[in-house]
Amino acid sequence: MGVRVFRLNPAREKEGKFRTYHVEVQEGARVLHVLHAIHAEDPTLSYRYCCGTGQCGSCAVRVDGEPKLACMTEARDGMTVEPLNLPVRKDLVVEMEPALAQIAPLLPKGQAECPAQEQIAAIKPLRDCIECLACVSVCPAMEVAEFAGPTAMRQGMRLALDPRDSGGRIPEAIRAGLFTCTTCQACWKVCPKDIQIPGKAIEKLRALANREGLTLPRHLEIVQLVKETGRTVPRTETSFLEQVDEVIEPAGPVKATVGFFVGCMYNLRLPKTALDAIEVLKRNGVRVIIPHEQVCCGSPLIRTGQLEYLPTLQGKNIECFTSRGIDTVMTMCAGCGSTLKNDYRTPFTVKDVNEILTEIGIEPPARLPLTVTYHDPCHLLRGQGIRDQPRALIRRVADLKEMAVVKCCGAGGGTRSGAPDVSRALALKRDEEIEKTGADCVISSCPFCEFHIGTFSETPVKNVTTLLLEGYRKKDEGKA
Ligand code: SF4
Ligand code: SF4
Ligand code: FES
Repeated sequence: MGVRVFRLNPAREKEGKFRTYHVEVQEGARVLHVLHAIHAEDPTLSYRYCCGTGQCGSCAVRVDGEPKLACMTEARDGMTVEPLNLPVRKDLVVEMEPALAQIAPLLPKGQAECPAQEQIAAIKPLRDCIECLACVSVCPAMEVAEFAGPTAMRQGMRLALDPRDSGGRIPEAIRAGLFTCTTCQACWKVCPKDIQIPGKAIEKLRALANREGLTLPRHLEIVQLVKETGRTVPRTETSFLEQVDEVIEPAGPVKATVGFFVGCMYNLRLPKTALDAIEVLKRNGVRVIIPHEQVCCGSPLIRTGQLEYLPTLQGKNIECFTSRGIDTVMTMCAGCGSTLKNDYRTPFTVKDVNEILTEIGIEPPARLPLTVTYHDPCHLLRGQGIRDQPRALIRRVADLKEMAVVKCCGAGGGTRSGAPDVSRALALKRDEEIEKTGADCVISSCPFCEFHIGTFSETPVKNVTTLLLEGYRKKDEGKA
């Protein structure tokens, strides 16, 4: 088996390099077995391990770019093994102490109080951490903010739930950067113990902060606005809903019927993009039903821990689609789609516009002389598992050049309003990656990403459906 392994001895060199090794291992061998085989030939290779069974967390490395436990990951011929994206001590061994020092210990109360069964059940999913630091190595907020990081937040919530702890965990979490997290979910997706840090720790800590009157003033304004208008974005121009009929028939035979949940951003900030999507759907045989009484999905309230008004929004939205007998509700905002799929119990199916268009099969558009890059919205990629469909649609129209890294643009989780410096710094980092591709424009599929990247990038930003529509317009011009 051939393996590329990162080597760096900071005592002797500044830059690391990859070295290729060829070793014999049994079929089904794990990455750790391969490292052992390499070490037998080259004892200068440094790496960590202890239990060999996924229990101690010491063997975490990047395998083909993804953080993994070496002892639990099957080895692959041609794989690349690198250290986690943390300061390197030597070869595959990284500095763990600074991040581990952020994980708070329990501070016992004078009089011990045993946790109740329900408290134990709530604590359990947060207690499984093996301190591998995979989550810390991928957290974008930690790169630009004073943020203690995902596993420190996990521990903060774990202790906040424990009646034996006397720690004052909510003010502590706020001081440690609770409101700088973008809820991008990168930490959860790499965690070998599947700990849902954004939903089970960050958003829960923010909800506890809300109960203690510690919600950020800018986030309180959002709740006020949604109570007054049903929307979390102020009206500054004619909305999408004011420009469309309730039922939009396709140009040809009906291939599918969907209800359209438009979301606050496409309704009020980027209505033209939603109108572009309607043109593409009409052209491809989709009948679109748009209940005009729909309101905000509640995502900004969930992400910022303000849950009191959420059931009102959920009830109104479910009612407006079920009362029309709609089986499939389409979203085109990644945040709304993720919220309807993961935070609602709906009697209808929810699908993103990229799923709908891919499933029905689209009319071929004309090709445009463009090279574009694609930014994965966190709440589409990780929140809904949608990666390939937008790429397939984009490739029908233009050449796609991928960015080197998939990373949050900084718009989510209430950071754009609550921690604007962090949000801006993340957008500028994203723009650096966009620039490196040399693409003519950046395509995305979420109004928050499109608006946020558009604010900080010189490269034009477009939605997938706008790109498709441009392809159709060129086709029509050619025919004319
Ligand atoms: S959700 Fe994203 S920003 Fe928040 S802690 Fe996890 S990785 Fe960091
Ligand atoms: S939360 Fe998960 S990824 Fe983070 S240190 Fe713990 S086990 Fe590792
Ligand atoms: S060696 Fe302990 S988790 Fe891999």
